[in-house]
Amino acid sequence: MPATVVVGTQWGDEGKGKLTDLLAKEAQVVVRYQGGHNAGHTIVVDGESFALQLIPSGVLYPSVTPVIGNGVVVDPQVLLAEMATLEARGVDCSRLRISGSAHLIMPYHQELDSLAERRLGRNKLGTTKRGIGPAYADKASRIGLRVQDLLDPKIFRQKLDLVLREKNQVLAKVYNRLALSADDICARYLDEYAPRLAPLIADTVGIVHDALDAGSEVLLEGAQATFLDLDHGTYPFVTSSNPVAGGACTGAGIGPRHIARVIGIAKAYLTRVGSGPFPTELTGSSGDELVERGHEFGTNTGRRRRTGWFDAVMARQAVRLNSLSEIALTKLDVLDTFETLRVCVAYEHDGTRYEHLPYHQSVLHQATPVYEQLPGWRTDTTGTTSVADLPTAARAYVDRLSELAGVPIHLVGVGPGREQFVRVGD
Ligand code: GDP
Ligand code: IMO
Ligand code: MG
Repeated sequence: MPATVVVGTQWGDEGKGKLTDLLAKEAQVVVRYQGGHNAGHTIVVDGESFALQLIPSGVLYPSVTPVIGNGVVVDPQVLLAEMATLEARGVDCSRLRISGSAHLIMPYHQELDSLAERRLGRNKLGTTKRGIGPAYADKASRIGLRVQDLLDPKIFRQKLDLVLREKNQVLAKVYNRLALSADDICARYLDEYAPRLAPLIADTVGIVHDALDAGSEVLLEGAQATFLDLDHGTYPFVTSSNPVAGGACTGAGIGPRHIARVIGIAKAYLTRVGSGPFPTELTGSSGDELVERGHEFGTNTGRRRRTGWFDAVMARQAVRLNSLSEIALTKLDVLDTFETLRVCVAYEHDGTRYEHLPYHQSVLHQATPVYEQLPGWRTDTTGTTSVADLPTAARAYVDRLSELAGVPIHLVGVGPGREQFVRVGD
């Protein structure tokens, strides 16, 4: 059976965790293909909330093999803590498999991430300070340590000694910080983490292909989102990996011909954490209302998210960049109290109208959104279980977003609970 990709279409936190969990019911393998513990994916089951960072959202189903793919950057301490928290809540993590080719987040990555942000001052990117950027930079520089190195203490130490010489120079001479000790790092990574992770390290490419060959359903779960993509996002205000659907191929180890379905997740409005352009941003009371009603605070970092109206220009670009077959729309219920809603249908800049994302980012920074107004429904939709029960104006809003994006919307979220999705169409 071909694979399905779940990809964020905005700036993250669209509800990838919730949708992946919903689809995982029918899946045998769920792979996280990029990112690290900068992600926070929430699943709410019977009022109980699970906030996952590294472990794929299929983990709650005993029938699923959760896989951390080669495209992910892994902080072993965070992973072990996440496993312990889940185990304490009765979720079995022994089925988890981790790619030996995934890169390790090392203590210097986290420190350098924080220091670089401080150095940038008011130009900071607003990263999660988890070491994600520095870890991917080392991967590209070919000086990263990989998960498989945990299995070979001699190689681990050799690689660490080499890289630490440079990192300690930077820490001391650029940032005036104390040097890190290779002995301390080895004690943690090799003595403490390696024995606990060793049974989980596996040939994940083999696992994924065996499942595909056997006709099993494979789900590929993205972290972050299209406009945080290193190549296609609002650079430099992006993450350091490729969340777009193409990243699912490299990050899981499959070719594009295996992917039949690409589901883009979009919130019914927009949010963004951290710095960067945001044409439809709301800074007044409507923005506050979205924050309050949508509980728009980072799942793991607790940071307040910026909010704005739905942007169809971005949605159209996300359709293109990911070959989206459909969109799952979340958090429609958050709009329940609004009298009127706005949707950005195009941008205007210097007398030019842009129906598609301008390639030059200065335009995006300065563009004026062209809005279309739609009536609100002022009805509580959280109990809605079928599309027929959605207020007419809510249905019209969903239909208009679908029309503007150019792909169907098959699922509409009306609350955080696992069951709070309404199916539209077939
Ligand atoms: P992810 O990073 O894409 O997995 O999304 P997050 O979990 O970081 O953020 C989405 C938030 O919205 C979480 O708190 C979810 O529980 C919540 N959520 C998801 N879908 C809906 C929905 O349809 N309605 C409401 N009200 N909340 C939702
Ligand atoms: P999920 O998977 C929202 C943002 C950070 C910052 C930028 C770079 O839960 O949707 P990084 O630490 O990755 O170098 O930070 O990316 N960011 C996210 N924003 N949701 C996320 O993940 C994010 N992961 C990173 O806020 O602006
Ligand atoms: Mg999140």
